[in-house]
Amino acid sequence: MDIIQSLLAQSPVGRSAVAAFGIGLVLYLIFINNRMRGVPDDMKRLKQKPWTFEMLKEAYARLEKNPITVKTTKDRLPPKLSRRYVVVGGNGLVGGYIVLQLLARGQSPESIRIVDYQKMHRKDMLEGPAAEIDVIHTDISSVASTDAAFTKAWPSLVAKLPLTVFHTAAVMVPSDRSQSAYKFLERINIEGTKNVLAAARKAGADVFISTASGSISVRNVELWMAPWRLCGWPKNYVQPLNEADFSRPLRPFTEFYSAYAASKATAERIVCDANCERLRTGTIRPANGIYGHPTDNVVGSPLNLATCPAWSYNIVNSFIHGMNCSLAHLDFEAVLADPRSSTMPQAGRPFTVTDPNAPIQFQDMYFALEKLSVTPFRTVPLIPVHMLVTAYMIEFYMMLPHRFPILKDILPKVSGDAKYLQPALFSIMTHLYATNDPASKPVKEGGIGYHGVINTTDGMVQQIVEWNNEHIGRQENAWVKYKSSMTLADEFEDLQK
Ligand SMILES: *[C@@H]1O[C@H](CO)[C@@H](O)[C@H](O)[C@H]1NC(C)=O
Ligand SMILES: *[C@@H]1O[C@H](CO)[C@@H](O)[C@H](O)[C@H]1NC(C)=O
Repeated sequence: MDIIQSLLAQSPVGRSAVAAFGIGLVLYLIFINNRMRGVPDDMKRLKQKPWTFEMLKEAYARLEKNPITVKTTKDRLPPKLSRRYVVVGGNGLVGGYIVLQLLARGQSPESIRIVDYQKMHRKDMLEGPAAEIDVIHTDISSVASTDAAFTKAWPSLVAKLPLTVFHTAAVMVPSDRSQSAYKFLERINIEGTKNVLAAARKAGADVFISTASGSISVRNVELWMAPWRLCGWPKNYVQPLNEADFSRPLRPFTEFYSAYAASKATAERIVCDANCERLRTGTIRPANGIYGHPTDNVVGSPLNLATCPAWSYNIVNSFIHGMNCSLAHLDFEAVLADPRSSTMPQAGRPFTVTDPNAPIQFQDMYFALEKLSVTPFRTVPLIPVHMLVTAYMIEFYMMLPHRFPILKDILPKVSGDAKYLQPALFSIMTHLYATNDPASKPVKEGGIGYHGVINTTDGMVQQIVEWNNEHIGRQENAWVKYKSSMTLADEFEDLQK
C-alpha cells in the first residue's frame, strides 16, 4: 500500500497507470461476468422452450391425479429374470429405485439383498415388500465388511439362482479438485469398487453393473478468457456428455473437472476391464444431475433450503430422474444376462443416459419450485464473476494447511456450503447436454434399448407434488428435514477419521 501511495503522490503518470489498471480490471471482470450470463447460440437451439406457468399447472394437475410411479411404469421395465440380486447402495437414490423396480416386476424380497452403509430411510421403501428385504450394514472400503455382506447365506429357495450385482454406492464431493479430496474419494469410490467387484466374483456373480457419472467426460471450463475475444465464449463452456472419452486412455488427474470425476472414471475402468465370459460388466453414466427424491442435490436440496443462493439461471443442463436412471441399469442387465454377451459390443463399456427430452435451464427449475411448492422458495441472485473470484479465494484458503502443515491447527475450517464454492463448480455448472443416442439403440444395434419413462418437466413437477403432499398444512417447525447425499458424504468422512 505504501508503495502505491507514494507512487500516487509523486507522479501523475503513476497515478494514471494505477487508475488505468483498476479500470481495466473492472472492465475485464464485467466482460467475464457477461460471458458467464450468456447462452451460446447452439445451446439456445438445443434447449427446451422456457417453462411457462400454464404448462407447469397442467403437469401438476395431471400428476397430482395420476402420478408416474415405479408401479405405473412397470410395463416399461424389461421382463423379470430368474436371478438373485445384490444392490450395493440399495437405500440410495438410484439403488433404491432399482430395488423398487425389481420388486415391481415380480422379484421376491428374499431374492434381493441391500448392501449399504446407510440404514433404510426412504419412505417408499419402509413399507410393503421393500421393508422385508435383508439390509446388510456395510462399509465397502473394508474388505472384511464387504466380503461378509456377500458371503452371508441366501434363503434356500433362491440360493442356486444366478447372481446380478448392481453397484450404486459412492461418495460425492462435487467441487474439490485437490489431491487431499482424492484420498477420501479413492478409498470409497475406487478401493470400495475393487472390494465389491472381488466379493461379487467370489460369490459367483455373473453380471455386474455399476453407476458411473456423466461428469466423467466433463473438461475444465476456462473462464479467464482473453479480453480481446469479445464475442467468443470460454473454452469448454458448452460440452456434450457422452462416452467418447472411454475409447481413449484414461486422462491424467488434472484433466478431470474434479477429484470426484477422476475417482469415478478410474472405478469405471476397473469395472469395464473386468468384463469376461464368467462375469459380464458395464456402467451407466447418469447425466447430469439426478433428481427424484427429497434427498437429491438437484431439486431436493433447494426445496429443503427454502432460500437458494443462485447465479446460474442461464445455464443449460440435462437432468435425469432416479427412476429413469435405475431403468437403464435394468435394461443393461437384460443384455448382460445372456451368457454369450461378454463379446457383444455392449459389454465392458459405459452408457450415458438422461431424461428423454432436451436439456432445460436452471431458471426453469427455480421457476417451477417457486410457483408450485407449498413451502416458501426463492432464489437470491448473486453476481457470477463475484462467485468465481470468491471460489478461487476459498480454494486457496482450503489448500493452505496442505501446503503449510503448520497452519493445520491454526486456521479455522471452512464450514457449511461455502466449501462447495470452489472453481471446479464452474465446470460442472456449465452448459452440459447429454443424449441417449447410443443407449437408446435397440440391442441388436449395440444399444441397451433405453427409453426413459418420465421427462424432466413431469419428473420435477411430480417431485414437487410429493413434497407438497408431505408438507401441506404443516408449520415451518414441522417440515421434514432431509439430508442430501453431500451431507452424508461429509458425515461419512468425519466418521472415518
Ligand atoms: C424417463 O424417460 C422417459 C423417456 O425415455 C420418459 O417418458 C419418462 O417420463 C422419464 N421419467 C422417468 C421417471 O422414468
Ligand atoms: C412430458 O411428458 C408429458 C407426459 O407424457 C407430456 O404431456 C409433456 O408434453 C412432456 N413435456 C416435454 C417438455 O417433453
